[in-house]
Amino acid sequence: MTYPVDMSVKPEVSAHFDEATNTISYIVRDPASVHCAIIDSVMDIDYAAGRITYDHADALIAEIESKGLKLDWIIETHVHADHLSAAPYIQQRLGGRIGVGEKIMVVQETFGKIFNEGTEFQRDGSQFDALFKDGDTYKVGEMTCFAIYTPGHTPACMVHVMGDVAFAGDTLFMPDGGSARADFPGGDAGQLYDSIQKVLSLPDEMRLFMCHDYGPNGRAIQWETTVAAQKADNIHVGGGKTREDFIKFRTERDAQLAVPKLIIPSLQVNMRAGELPRDKDGNLMLKVPVNGI
Ligand SMILES: [Fe+2]
Repeated sequence: MTYPVDMSVKPEVSAHFDEATNTISYIVRDPASVHCAIIDSVMDIDYAAGRITYDHADALIAEIESKGLKLDWIIETHVHADHLSAAPYIQQRLGGRIGVGEKIMVVQETFGKIFNEGTEFQRDGSQFDALFKDGDTYKVGEMTCFAIYTPGHTPACMVHVMGDVAFAGDTLFMPDGGSARADFPGGDAGQLYDSIQKVLSLPDEMRLFMCHDYGPNGRAIQWETTVAAQKADNIHVGGGKTREDFIKFRTERDAQLAVPKLIIPSLQVNMRAGELPRDKDGNLMLKVPVNGI
């Protein structure tokens, strides 16, 4: 696959870090217009209390409104297991289309079963406005953007490229953070390695923005690096580590990792494009499948 890379287009990127989930949401602005996109928004949840709020999303909305921007796209790099998407809340206020990888259908099939969703839960991706395949292009104002299919962490992961910027989703973390886990249902360490190679084959100077940072070894939170820096220094894949090395390391590491705190509400909401599920009477209601995940 040859991707339509155009390093001459340099969008403005504004990062919003969510302390509760270590997620970074982005507003990306087309340099030639007032059009923009949001990547990976966050809805706030107090899971113990069953309470949803929108402070993080409101900050994104406020920035877009104060700059007079027009929102074209609300992109999900994948079905997140560690935070809930605020895409529908943002769409209601600002418009824009919600897009995700077309393999969302695989994720919906898997978790539709685990959460014992009835036939009213569609597993065809129809909750989203657009489903991307590898290499699909779309516009943010005059800027041509494209999606790269990058499975491994989940079957529906995609990296999104806009001008000289790529949003890594959960493929790579910062060089000293390494890579995302590959042990969720449908995940695969070998596939993740291959997907990371696709990202590393982008131009060296491409700016890379992470979906998460956990400040390893006590350093301050960071989210921006480059393809060149990842190739040289990434602790899991940099410096020419082999596919076999990576699979062995990733598999051993993943066996030690705890389940993400918000995986149960996150999957139920994110597989519905950010809509909360409802019970038979129409109340917003989340389930907990006992010993199901
Ligand atoms: Fe993730």
